[in-house]
Amino acid sequence: MHMLHYWQKTAVVLAFALITVPCGQPQQCQAKEPCEKLVQNKCSSCHFVTYICEPIERGKGSFYWKRTVKAMVMSGMETTKEENEQLVDCLGNPSDKVQALCPNK
Ligand code: HEC
Repeated sequence: MHMLHYWQKTAVVLAFALITVPCGQPQQCQAKEPCEKLVQNKCSSCHFVTYICEPIERGKGSFYWKRTVKAMVMSGMETTKEENEQLVDCLGNPSDKVQALCPNK
C-alpha cells in the first residue's frame, strides 16, 4: 500500500481531533449544559425541583423567571450570570425534558 498524501494524513488527524476533543469533562467544555441538567442541578439543592412545576404549568414567562432566578440568587444560589440567563430561557420556554422534571408531566 502506498503512503498517504500529506493532506490525507491531515484530514485523518483533523477528523480524529474533532471526534476526540469534544469534552469528556463538562467543566472544560464550552458548550452549555442542557436545560434539564442545569435546572435539575441548580434548582434542586435547596428545595425540591418540583417547586418550579406550578409556574411552569401556568406557563410563566421570562419576566417571572428573571425575578425568581434573582430571588434564588439572593437566597444563595451559586450560578454565573450566563447560567442565570440560560435558566430564564430554559424555564420561560420549557422543553419537554424540562417539563419531565415535574411529576405529572
Ligand atoms: C440557595 C437555595 C435555593 C436555590 C439554589 C433555589 N432556590 Fe428556589 N427557593 C429558595 C427558598 C429559600 C425558597 C422559599 C422562600 C420563598 O418562597 O421565597 C424558594 C422558593 C422558590 C419558589 C417559590 C417562590 C414563591 O414565590 O413562592 C420557586 C418558584 C423557586 N424557588 C424556584 C427556583 C428555581 C427555578 C431555582 C433554580 C433556578 C431555585 N428556586 C433554586 C431557595 C433556593
